[in-house]
Amino acid sequence: MRKLFATGALILPLLTASAAPAMAEGGHGPALLPATFSFEGPFGTYDRGAAQRGFQIYKEVCSACHSLSLVSYRNLMDLGLSEAAVKGIAADVQVNDVNDKGETIERPGKPSDRFKKPFPNEAAAAAANGGAAPPDLSLIIKARPNGARYVFSLLQGYVEDVDKLPAPEKAALGLAKDYKLEDGKSFNKYFHPGEQGYKIGMAKPLNDGQITYVDGAKNDLASMSRDVVTFLAWAAEPKMEERKRTGVRVILFLLIFAGMMYAVKRKVWANAH
Ligand code: HEC
Repeated sequence: MRKLFATGALILPLLTASAAPAMAEGGHGPALLPATFSFEGPFGTYDRGAAQRGFQIYKEVCSACHSLSLVSYRNLMDLGLSEAAVKGIAADVQVNDVNDKGETIERPGKPSDRFKKPFPNEAAAAAANGGAAPPDLSLIIKARPNGARYVFSLLQGYVEDVDKLPAPEKAALGLAKDYKLEDGKSFNKYFHPGEQGYKIGMAKPLNDGQITYVDGAKNDLASMSRDVVTFLAWAAEPKMEERKRTGVRVILFLLIFAGMMYAVKRKVWANAH
């Protein structure tokens, strides 16, 4: 029995350890903003309210530039939206299709359609955004180290006038003396840090109070950033909750099975010594 407890003691810390260290990208530049999210940890789930609000932000703001090509409208039902609501959201969008005669047409979206892309291709996306194409956001939370905290920080990391930053802050960021921000770029504390770094081709997309939430939730920048990150985390891994549940069941099964095997071993060998 003691062995069994020892096995449990080995497995439990593995189960409860958080996978995400709080380091900034590449280990330099300012540390990311501290934040914990509902979907972290072995038992974490997506906060449905936050994810729905995050979808509202994506729809009203981010979707003007960023595609979300791996998500279909019907997937939104996983977030608790009704079928009728999803049908309405899809039908509000005009999507390109081909009719029976092979002609390209536009038709109202269906729940089975993927989210509509704002630009026909990457070149057009780059041309419309000063040369930097807005990346698809389907997997962005997984594509960046510490993705949830990174995007949460990025959305809040804009500095309006770099030249007016106090000297110690400038020094902490490691900016070169002749630091120059080109036209069309914005300064972001969490984007590509470096002497001539921090230059992002995305103007500050979210500001305090910008979104009027249908559920009346708080709409300061930090709350909105959390909401949109929750939505994007769900988009990147919609089956996470299932995966975690399966993991917990497997571990429980293995613990019970190990106990049973131990009992069997005792029984079988009881008279053999
Ligand atoms: C006006 C267009 C526009 C809007 C609106 C916009 N973005 Fe962007 N975004 C961009 C562009 C352009 C880039 C590429 C920047 C670069 O590489 O310099 C980008 C890059 C990003 C990145 C990637 C940063 C990285 O590490 O490479 C994230 C994450 C992001 N945007 C999130 C968002 C979110 C969330 C919203 C909505 C709240 C949003 N964006 C709204 C244009 C936009």
